[in-house]
Amino acid sequence: MNPNRPTIRPRRLRSTATMRQMVAETVLRPADLILPMFVADGISDKREIASMPGVYQHTIDSLLYAVEDAAKESITCIDLFGVPRDSDKDERGSAAWDPEGILNRGIAAVRERFGDDILVMADTCLDEFTSHGHCGLLDAHGAVANDATIACYQDMAVSQAAAGAHIVSPSGMMDGQVAAIRQALDESNYTDVAIMAYSAKYASAFFGPFRDAVGSSLQGDRRTYQQDPANFRESLREVALDIEEGADFVMVKPALAYLDVLHAVKDISPVPVAAYHVSGEYVMIKAAAANGWIDGDAAMMEALVSIKRAGADQILTYAAVDIARKLNNAR
Ligand code: PBG
Repeated sequence: MNPNRPTIRPRRLRSTATMRQMVAETVLRPADLILPMFVADGISDKREIASMPGVYQHTIDSLLYAVEDAAKESITCIDLFGVPRDSDKDERGSAAWDPEGILNRGIAAVRERFGDDILVMADTCLDEFTSHGHCGLLDAHGAVANDATIACYQDMAVSQAAAGAHIVSPSGMMDGQVAAIRQALDESNYTDVAIMAYSAKYASAFFGPFRDAVGSSLQGDRRTYQQDPANFRESLREVALDIEEGADFVMVKPALAYLDVLHAVKDISPVPVAAYHVSGEYVMIKAAAANGWIDGDAAMMEALVSIKRAGADQILTYAAVDIARKLNNAR
């Protein structure tokens, strides 16, 4: 070393665990994590999803137990998806806004049990409920019809608010969906129900296991409404539109392959930015860990810290409860 120069040693700040803790720039909290959950109709016991170890299709009863477990680890928000019976799917996805539909019954049960102690967010999209598996209605040529779909999203969002949802989350990537939902909620006096907008949602192969989880009927793909992974600026446009339309949160999805997008969105967004660490991202870690090829817990923690570091205020993750438990035990 040059004797005339002070020794510049960044390693000093890494020398002990307490030092590292003190200088950590990003700290994950249980309250940052949103747990996606599935409630299924017509099952008598919870069922583990074959392609998503540790994730279940729940009955209403088992859902309540699982929410209680999550709440014990200081998880503050769940995101609920409904899995209807195949016989309840139709062209329009009408079980989606039926007050007796499985998703609305699930929302109501959780809200009734937990009040305002847990935030109930609901997925506001038709794909689980349509016989063709698309996120919207099909026109005579088989294309997904934007404006007709939005009218259904309005009914769905209002039914979710009526069931007790604190947050609705339109994930269908229809143009104008946020403004339309805001208007419908306001007209029904649900002015306090917030909208978490899936703003930059890509047509991603990482959604594969989720489609198993919800028993999706989709043939083909969603490339006419979800974004092309090749595009970056398009996300900024989508986010700006959603903010203008009244989104209370914006979201980037998936997360790890889109950290550039997430970082840029964080820079321009006046509202909280969420990121969805999706099913495929979750199972890649789980599968590698099950083979003994990777330390699954450490990899999951690193992935989530990185997503927060890149700009996420909230992270939707199937590992929420496990990670929250680790964070709580480390305190
Ligand atoms: C659509 C929706 C999807 C996911 C969340 N909402 C699937 C899709 O667009 O096909 C995927 C979530 C995941 O992969 O974990 N309502």
